[in-house]
Amino acid sequence: MNQDELKKAVAQAALDYIRPHLDQDSIIGVGTGSTANCFIDLLAEMRNDFDGAVASSDATAERLKSHGIPVYDLNSAAPLEFYVDGADETNEHLELIKGGGGALTREKIIAAASKTFICIADESKKVGILGTFPLPVEVVPMARSYVGREIVKLGGDPVYREGFTTDNGNVILDIHNLDISRPIQVEEKLNNIVGIVTNGLFARRPADLLLLGTDDGVKTIS
Ligand code: 5RP
Repeated sequence: MNQDELKKAVAQAALDYIRPHLDQDSIIGVGTGSTANCFIDLLAEMRNDFDGAVASSDATAERLKSHGIPVYDLNSAAPLEFYVDGADETNEHLELIKGGGGALTREKIIAAASKTFICIADESKKVGILGTFPLPVEVVPMARSYVGREIVKLGGDPVYREGFTTDNGNVILDIHNLDISRPIQVEEKLNNIVGIVTNGLFARRPADLLLLGTDDGVKTIS
């Protein structure tokens, strides 16, 4: 299977996993990116079997709405039973790097507010140690240079994502060459840097379930 087929297969597996738990009142948390888009497109086929969704980005909200799926504000929906989203990297503990699409802040909030976070990914995303994919951090624009210097002190090489503004009006620094052999500690260090809104390490709250698309089928890892 090619990568697109693997993405569709894990999206279908996520739908099969949550379907028995859905009823007319269910509101589903939905992530951002090409894998999440596959999930949204499948979700549309059963839009009468649940109430609606909470979106982790404006792009996801638009895609949901284009399928006629009602989009709710998290404040009127939480706690959510399920959050389904992709990742840029995952390790065996289901600790993730997210934010390649720049939606990390809303993604992290919805993950925190959900009982079960289902990560859907093709096997190219599975790594031994996180960090080959540059770690995105969302930064308040006026703090960009200060945050960059603090990241250098941690041993990382921050690169400003040119021409990109998040849905929250902030900027992204992508951190290269950071040692993420201890993800929880790195996440906490970054949380302590003033000016960083959110870092893309999902280690303190990892995924609960990983549906990993492989040539041998979708593997369920928890
Ligand atoms: C967006 C994300 C995405 O989940 C991540 O970038 C994976 O995207 P894709 O499914 O397109 O590979 O974190 O902020």
